[in-house]
Amino acid sequence: MARVFSGIQPSGDVHLGNYLGAIRRWVEEQPPAGSEAALRRDAIHCVVDLHAMTVPYVPAEMASRTLALATLLMAAGLEPDRSLLFVQSHVRAHAELTWILNSVATFGELNRMTQFKEKSGGQESVSAGLFDYPVLMAADILLYDTDEVPVGDDQRQHIELARDIAIRFNHRFGKTFVVPKGTYAEVAARVMDLQNPTRKMSKSEESPQGTILVLDPPKLIEKKIKSAVTDSGTDVRYDPAEKPGVSNLLEIYAATSGTPISKAEIEFEGAGYGKFKQAVADAVIECVRPVQERYAALEADPGEVDRRLLRGAEEADAKAEEVMARATRAAGLLPRPR
Ligand code: TYM
Repeated sequence: MARVFSGIQPSGDVHLGNYLGAIRRWVEEQPPAGSEAALRRDAIHCVVDLHAMTVPYVPAEMASRTLALATLLMAAGLEPDRSLLFVQSHVRAHAELTWILNSVATFGELNRMTQFKEKSGGQESVSAGLFDYPVLMAADILLYDTDEVPVGDDQRQHIELARDIAIRFNHRFGKTFVVPKGTYAEVAARVMDLQNPTRKMSKSEESPQGTILVLDPPKLIEKKIKSAVTDSGTDVRYDPAEKPGVSNLLEIYAATSGTPISKAEIEFEGAGYGKFKQAVADAVIECVRPVQERYAALEADPGEVDRRLLRGAEEADAKAEEVMARATRAAGLLPRPR
């Protein structure tokens, strides 16, 4: 099996885009318990709190958000004997490798990152961390000899940069890093905002009505989907350019019900938007229900999450140290005398 690594920021509540574009795929791709791959810890998932520090945040909330996100990932189905789950700041090597990679990444390529432009645009003060964000992300990935990075479509440019950095480092200092590749969902790789379907669904709190949270109560999910912006006309047809609202709902329906888009188009032919939206709402509610139930159970037992994160930190640390030693040696730094 390919070594898989991916991460998610504790910067806001987990939404349907995060779930369908990333988390659910992480769960599905875990190796079977007891297999060689599971014992090797070939599925690694990380709550990337250091990334969440690069924009203004409330310090008093960071720890609880991090814990809540780890709880949600476990509730979603990341199992202790099938995947390694840890918190980025618990493994020092992430920040350390970032520094080393900073000497390989260039100002020019970081300056071309569209997410940086979006997040920094119109801000009075932009942290150096926000600019360097993609290098930290490259360090996350390269530290674990990662082959595949399952992410949403919005991370493509960051993954390309991580590849470029790995290739450049290997070229300059000798083969050190595995060159990773991104993997993307077939449907719902970019879930759009329900109120503005030309913008991706996101954790920023600008559009609460347009964002379905994985832990939203069923009634609220139904309300949000029923008030989703649809397009003129009445036919349920997949056409992202002409009908972005309906197409987004079709993708969500396909991803949550398991019905291919082409079949769904036939299923809802002549049904009208009302009936279609009810079916989408029902499919989404059913899809997140087990996650919500397990979340409630785990929340009542925070010790279980703590134990998981402790073990995750220890295992990730050991793996990262090996790669870190390889990287510092390749870069020519003096090994610490023993
Ligand atoms: P983050 O925390 O914004 O999102 C977590 C994952 O959810 C995906 N995603 C979406 N997928 C489909 N539709 C959407 N509307 C949508 N919004 C978000 C993201 O693509 C992501 O896969 N930079 C990363 C976190 C990160 C990381 C890493 C990922 C840090 N280091 C190393 C992979 C490997 C981010 O901000 O994700």
